[in-house]
Amino acid sequence: MTVLVTGGAGFIGSNFVLDWLAQSDELVVNVDKLTYAGNLGNLASLKGDARHIVVQGDIGDQAAVERLLAEHRPRAVINFAAESHVDRSIHGAGDFIQTNVVGTFHLLQAVLGYWRDTLQRDQEFRFLHVSTDEVYGSLGADDPAFSETTQYAPNSPYSASKAASDHLVRAWHHTYGLPVLTTNCSNNYGPLQFPEKLIPLMISNALEGKALPVYGDGRNVRDWLYVTDHCSAIRTVLERGRVGEVYNVGGNSEKQNIEVVKTLCAILDELVPAGRPHEKLVTYVTDRPGHDRRYAIDATKIERELGWTPSVAFADGIRKTVRWYLDNAEWVREVKSGEYRKWLDLNYQGRG
Ligand code: NAD
Ligand code: DAU
Repeated sequence: MTVLVTGGAGFIGSNFVLDWLAQSDELVVNVDKLTYAGNLGNLASLKGDARHIVVQGDIGDQAAVERLLAEHRPRAVINFAAESHVDRSIHGAGDFIQTNVVGTFHLLQAVLGYWRDTLQRDQEFRFLHVSTDEVYGSLGADDPAFSETTQYAPNSPYSASKAASDHLVRAWHHTYGLPVLTTNCSNNYGPLQFPEKLIPLMISNALEGKALPVYGDGRNVRDWLYVTDHCSAIRTVLERGRVGEVYNVGGNSEKQNIEVVKTLCAILDELVPAGRPHEKLVTYVTDRPGHDRRYAIDATKIERELGWTPSVAFADGIRKTVRWYLDNAEWVREVKSGEYRKWLDLNYQGRG
């Protein structure tokens, strides 16, 4: 049996592939465009493993995806591929529209053709679309958490592009019958996250003695989930989720940004004392335009229907994360320096 994963060299995708192959002997075909956020080094431990096939490719290249589907005949496609960073989407939305909207459209077309024309009618197949809680917009301090029926209200170019992709996935199910599943998850953290997102950026800056840029008043709230818990939720939905349904995934772990940053500083003070508290590096900076105030996920549906709950408490996950970044300083240096990009250009030029 085979599954096809898109975006499997990014943060969550590579954690998912590593986790999957630690528990299953199914073949994973990993299609990734290898943008700045995709890093084959994340999958170095799978080098030479015949269960993992990496293909540099774009989900928007419908013909290429069609060829891969025909060749490998996966029982499922799990779509992680996306442009994922809100700040980048504010500075330039083009790539977000191209990959998250147009790319998802082409991927759906390729998958629909494969499911309809190639697979036997009695063969089970799933298309699982990995999405975000940001599609629901922003909550006030006392609002109830996002449920699967909360109205979409995306506020950033990133979340608007993800909302559009969710709508396409829904439509391909209702119109064409494609057996889809969608997950909308809260903020992930853990190993292998590119140091542009809050937690790895703060760790990396703190270790270099640089300012820790906290947007606005630092009181925006996010619901944090350790990445392997997201991976287990996706596996659960893939195996037991009801076709056409949406499942919200969250960590029951709402924190203000400043609280997260102070926690990181306290762990760093303990593990790598720097002479003065790392918290002294906190610098309040101009807020992100359109900055959503609060996200919170009501994950009762996935718990009630599928029995999934998060297993890593924030206090443990954040400590493990800091340790990982301390132990993998070379990884951070490489992904930030662009050396890896040069290697990629030399080694992957023109490969389909
Ligand atoms: P990431 O930016 O770390 O990784 C994205 C991966 O997709 C990279 O490997 C990149 O090379 C690849 N990619 C980009 N464009 C592509 C294209 N056109 N074709 C093929 N591959 C392409 O992102 P992430 O944080 O791992 O997020 C993965 C998915 O999960 C995204 O869909 C994101 O919207 C969603 N999500 C993320 C979070 C989070 O907190 N990070 C939370 C909920 C949902
Ligand atoms: O909620 C799920 C989403 O979480 C995912 O869909 C996105 O792909 C992922 O990037 C993440 O989006 P956020 O915008 O919440 O993540 P980010 O790490 O960029 O920011 C987290 C919070 O920290 C947010 O309130 C902005 C703030 N922040 C971020 C950075 C990078 C700062 O205060 N300073 C910073 O330097």
